[in-house]
Amino acid sequence: MSSRSSLAFATPTPGATPAVKRSLSSSASSSRRGGAVGAGARRGGGGKNAAFSSVLFSSSHSHRHRQHQHRMGRRGGENRGSIGRGFRGKMTTMASLSSSSSSTMQQNPDGFAQIDLFSPSKINLFLRIVRRREDGYHDLASLFHVIDLGDEMSFAKSSSETKDTLVCEDASIPLDESNLVIKALNLFRAKTGIKQYFWVELKKTVPSGAGLGGGSGNAATALYAANKLCGDVATEEELLEWSGDIGSDISVFFSTGAAYCTGRGEIVEDVEPPLPLTTKMCLVKPSIGLSTPTIFKALDLDKRSKAEPLDLLKSLNADGCTYENAINDLERPAFSKLPELGELKDKLIDATKEDGAVVFMSGSGSTIVLLGTDTVPKFAMEDDDLFKSKARLISRKKGEWFVPSNV
Ligand code: C5P
Repeated sequence: MSSRSSLAFATPTPGATPAVKRSLSSSASSSRRGGAVGAGARRGGGGKNAAFSSVLFSSSHSHRHRQHQHRMGRRGGENRGSIGRGFRGKMTTMASLSSSSSSTMQQNPDGFAQIDLFSPSKINLFLRIVRRREDGYHDLASLFHVIDLGDEMSFAKSSSETKDTLVCEDASIPLDESNLVIKALNLFRAKTGIKQYFWVELKKTVPSGAGLGGGSGNAATALYAANKLCGDVATEEELLEWSGDIGSDISVFFSTGAAYCTGRGEIVEDVEPPLPLTTKMCLVKPSIGLSTPTIFKALDLDKRSKAEPLDLLKSLNADGCTYENAINDLERPAFSKLPELGELKDKLIDATKEDGAVVFMSGSGSTIVLLGTDTVPKFAMEDDDLFKSKARLISRKKGEWFVPSNV
């Protein structure tokens, strides 16, 4: 089966030109090409159904959905307020995160240094599953890209000698050791030998069960913050390497934004952003989320794409994002577990044909990415059960952390 004929889910738009192409200047450049893509891009970037209960997360995110519908008509940074409340009254109001600074270090009322960071999420521009491993994981080959849909996090050293404290107003977020943030702080202490505990405040925006790596982004941000607060005792390369111990999707956040990931996802190779960071994008997600292990288990290996991952990468670089290269092997199992998601994708494809968007699922779902348009179709805008957000691809310089784009 050719890579083209394997695109049963990608529903190619016959005769359509690639919807999302790199600019001419960027196609004349690359890592081999001298970095103009990155330079140019950086300028631009700154349970509803009981039958699914074992597979799907029922949503208690309706207020978050409203928040995001809100964001659709606003600048990204403007939807961020104080996160001081609920934090024992000790943290100062979080400084507004802007694209000009990656973090704000300040003193909190206890005299401890406090650091405020943006905690990004990711999409997969393509996702091929290479093989099922004996340890239950799957080797994959995927172009991950960090995006600016993200959470807000504040960190300070704690005087506790026994535990970290995680605060989050979202009642659906566990605050104990099952949270990747606490796992990340435990990992930091185990690897460095530093017996330092932390206060963490988390303001969630990224939905769970979305295929966006929101919790993984929180864990990466926690590792970065703990290291900063402790005087940069570890290198970013060490943080990247360590992060694979607690999850497969965390390491990508130690890339510079665009990364070709293999292994479980933890082997990260930085690549030049294949698309301009100014590329328009929106995300649409049903209120039901999907469980990653369940979707991996439901994957029928015989029904995967046959496309070579490196050919997909080449095509992405040469032609931009197209229905031919925006392949996600997890779409078929996700749509089999949640048929409404496949139907949503089809409706989004239909509704965005005129915009020339390319529509595909991120990770193990349930987020559908609309690449190449900022306009959420009317039917989706009118559906209060859908999460909707504008987003942009982002990158960072080594040594700095991610910040939202200016969009
Ligand atoms: O590593 P992480 O905790 O994010 O993975 C969650 C689950 O997703 C794993 O326990 C496994 O079932 C599945 N997974 C997989 N192959 C991967 C990544 C995740 O099978 N590469």
